[in-house]
Amino acid sequence: MNISVLTLFPDIIDNYFSHSIGARAVRNGHFNIDIINIRDFSLDKHGKVDDTPFGGGAGMLMMPQPLFDSAEYIKGKHPDTKIIYMSPKGRVLNNNLARELAQYSSITFVCGHYEGVDQRFIDEMVDMELSIGDYVLTGGELAALVSIDAIMRFIPGVIGSEDVHNEESFEDKLLEYPQYTRPAEYKGLKVPEVLSSGHHAKIKKWQREKQLEETLKKRPDLLDIAELSEKDRQYLDKLRKSKKTTK
Ligand code: ADE
Repeated sequence: MNISVLTLFPDIIDNYFSHSIGARAVRNGHFNIDIINIRDFSLDKHGKVDDTPFGGGAGMLMMPQPLFDSAEYIKGKHPDTKIIYMSPKGRVLNNNLARELAQYSSITFVCGHYEGVDQRFIDEMVDMELSIGDYVLTGGELAALVSIDAIMRFIPGVIGSEDVHNEESFEDKLLEYPQYTRPAEYKGLKVPEVLSSGHHAKIKKWQREKQLEETLKKRPDLLDIAELSEKDRQYLDKLRKSKKTTK
């Protein structure tokens, strides 16, 4: 898979892919990252990329020419690329959408700045607008990085086998169970005994129950869409009843 990022701040993206799992994934060839500075495509002798909006209003807009030309350049390299403009107006990213996007052979993220981009670029060149949540960032770079991070987890080989259970647990729409590492006691706080029992079935049962407890407490909305067994439902009923009686 090829991931391109069109940005006015290439160092932000480059820095991210110099560290940790992203760097390892690129080094191991699980995907390729192509970072393009939109300013390099400006035909203005001072490298200007923004201008004031027609009709007035505060702030500056990114001009169409450098955006069109940089996107055309990427399309020349990757003719089948899907162009995604990061915007709070877009479809909101979730795990299912990240998995869907991971199936493309090429994605190009376009990061806006200032008050946004000329609408003609969106109308003509953009396949999809993507948001990472209902808040407004000062630029699209962090949103593109968040999206790429979520997407790359679905590219085979990017996360090691040690992380696979994370994927599986979100697959059934429940929150993670709590986890602990050494030491077994820290500042008088003990790790739940069952986890050192070596009893695999008991550990699994404890982890499932904790997932149900966490989800009921923090994201009860997820229980409407979660894949639950009869046993899960019985445990949830028990939790709800005990909550009522302790009130
Ligand atoms: N650019 C500014 N805010 C954004 C958001 N919430 N999601 C994606 N891109 C953005």
